[in-house]
Amino acid sequence: MILNELQPAPPDAILGLTEAFKQDTRENKINLGVGVYQDDTGVTPVLQSVKAAEERLLATETSKSYMSIGGAPEYKAHVQALLFGAEHAIVREQRARTAHTPGGTGGLRVGAEFLKQIRPDATVWVSTPTWANHPGIFSAAGFKMATYPYYDAATKGLDYEGMLEALRAVPAGDIVLLHVCCHNPTGVDLTESQWQEIGAIASGQGWTPFLDFAYQGLGEDLERDRLGLLTLLDAVPECLIASSFSKNFGLYRERTGALTLVASTAESAAAAFSHVEKTIRVIYSNPPAHGGLVVSTILSDQELRAQWEGEVTAIRDRIQSVRQTLVSELHARGVDRDFSFIEQQKGMFSFSGLSDGQVSYLREQKGIYIVKGGRINVAGITSRNMAYLCDSIAEALKSG
Ligand code: LMR
Repeated sequence: MILNELQPAPPDAILGLTEAFKQDTRENKINLGVGVYQDDTGVTPVLQSVKAAEERLLATETSKSYMSIGGAPEYKAHVQALLFGAEHAIVREQRARTAHTPGGTGGLRVGAEFLKQIRPDATVWVSTPTWANHPGIFSAAGFKMATYPYYDAATKGLDYEGMLEALRAVPAGDIVLLHVCCHNPTGVDLTESQWQEIGAIASGQGWTPFLDFAYQGLGEDLERDRLGLLTLLDAVPECLIASSFSKNFGLYRERTGALTLVASTAESAAAAFSHVEKTIRVIYSNPPAHGGLVVSTILSDQELRAQWEGEVTAIRDRIQSVRQTLVSELHARGVDRDFSFIEQQKGMFSFSGLSDGQVSYLREQKGIYIVKGGRINVAGITSRNMAYLCDSIAEALKSG
């Protein structure tokens, strides 16, 4: 008997909140934990472009046979076109290889398992703070973890000097995880010139960037959001990229993401990718098809693509307008703390500056669920819950 030795594991820092939220019977409860978009009526919609693509698929799909280990060629090409631009030299020279993975998380974990085989003694460096699941993913693959400074709580911005100093000391062969845009959890992103400088450090030091790119389109727009990635790749010959269609296609539960590797030549990319395929084969064999087919159907069709781009823009615009209303509503309540930084942050999240005590107060007293550390999913705020939220935050700030 081994199972009766176990104590329950602690709940997940993000998904565990959703479970607790579901159990909460208070009528005015609000879930601002997990990064899932809601429209102003509080619904997480299936995008209309996705519905249309699904209708076509239902009518035309002829088989449920296995996918290739790395997924469908058409999907891979679409992923690369979004990451780099279809005409980019990396694509033309076939220096990138992509695997369709179950979500961005799947891409990170496959990438971690793959790297562990070739760099077993490397350390993986993550920002302080980073997505709560990052340390778990890389530790589960057996890596040692270390952190580099990123967020400066005093300025509510980037601790750029601290970051550079740490990255200059990362040894060759180590792996540095960077968020391309919409940094999770802070919403604080790097500028183009900062990416240039980081690229120069990576190439000088010889560490490998692993890029997490889960929010393309939710920051500035689809093209500007990839600028950091392209700038970095001007300086470094190799990197790994985990990307996701959970947020920008709303395909959360379809687990639709990718792992892309970039190498200095087409030959080394192909050789390295064969090891990625071996890694995948022993974990889940080959990816789930549906989400990838939806993405390919939309991106291959001019009309559906235009519709989808419009829907991504609407998501981004709503989040931005919620940011503005949140700041002005807090101000209107006489809250003297300056929350204007919320308008500058990019993506779904706002790193609110609320203390863990205030986060607990909001959950226990008000039924408002926020991730420990103070990360708020701005996309969960609606016209209906805004006033209650701002009244509650004002009270929480007074509570200490
Ligand atoms: C988040 O950070 O809330 C999302 O990426 C969802 C998740 O899996 O944690």
